[in-house]
Amino acid sequence: MTGTDEHTAVTPPVSVLGLGEMGGALASAFLGGGHPTTVWNRTAAKADPWVAKGARQASDVREAVRSGELVVVSVQGNETARELLETAGDALAGRAVLNLTDGTSQEVRAVATWAAERGAAYLHGQIMTIAPGVGSPEAVVFYGGSRTLYDRYAAALRLIGGRGTLLGADAGVPTLYGMAVHGTMWGALNGFLHAAALLSDEGVPVADFLDRANPSLTALLGLFPLLAGEIDSGAYATEYGALSAHRPSVADLVRECAARGVDTTFPRYTLDLVEQAIDAGHGGDSYSRLVEHFRGR
Ligand SMILES: NC(=O)c1ccc[n+]([C@@H]2O[C@H](COP(=O)([O-])OP(=O)(O)OC[C@H]3O[C@@H](n4cnc5c(N)ncnc54)[C@H](OP(=O)(O)O)[C@@H]3O)[C@@H](O)[C@H]2O)c1
Repeated sequence: MTGTDEHTAVTPPVSVLGLGEMGGALASAFLGGGHPTTVWNRTAAKADPWVAKGARQASDVREAVRSGELVVVSVQGNETARELLETAGDALAGRAVLNLTDGTSQEVRAVATWAAERGAAYLHGQIMTIAPGVGSPEAVVFYGGSRTLYDRYAAALRLIGGRGTLLGADAGVPTLYGMAVHGTMWGALNGFLHAAALLSDEGVPVADFLDRANPSLTALLGLFPLLAGEIDSGAYATEYGALSAHRPSVADLVRECAARGVDTTFPRYTLDLVEQAIDAGHGGDSYSRLVEHFRGR
């Protein structure tokens, strides 16, 4: 990213710091894409398989940073990522740093600010696949930070995942996208597993339920754009049914579970949320009104 290299090589040299499950997959992807690849790992012996595949092993982080035009970091924790990069000293100036280390938006922004102060271009990436999925055309990666870096190394980024997208200049936002996907996933998984517990208490095979209920479950995803519109506008319309209409069904679920000895914590939590909103006078609003509860306002 120095001012002198106006034209980036088709396969610019890449350095990968961290050869854990994810860093190793990334190094393999860059090697497979024809990039001269330098690797560094705290436990040096772990680099052997990548050296055998053609990677060059750096003896320290500074050497790795000097060898790679694009410096990719994938370790455990952003404090570790920053501490490692710090050992590169002035070698960091003019380099392009792609940090693929998970953390909070605050932690990631701190690394981004720190890197910018040392003259490095910075991009954060939130990888939405497990390590074996790296390189898949379907793999989603959310990026935030330097557009120049994103554009210049677009071909290298495609080796990580075919569905990369730059969200903007803020390096912290990709982590929030990742958390939003995972939060939605955990909510859905808990709902499904609770439903499975109820069904299996009756001896109903969960697979049979899925066969028949699949259209209803898939239709749920279709609700998200409607809810998103209501949340973004703050207008909790009632196009698909008022919040108060949910109360009897949730109450039935709580009573059914209680009668069977199936855990009631999860549906009771939902019932509490619905009843609080109704008591506050929002019974005629859409279910999306509950976002106000989660906002903590
Ligand atoms: N694995 C996945 O499928 C996956 C998916 C999405 C995102 N991620 C993210 O990718 C990042 C790396 O995950 P991973 O699965 O590769 O982890 P991992 O297999 O546990 O490897 C951790 C890496 O961090 C290094 N490391 C840890 N502490 C260090 C320290 N104090 N100083 C220097 N190096 C240190 C380790 O070095 P040593 O080998 O010396 O211990 C190793 O290279 C994480 O942020 C993770 O959340 C992973």
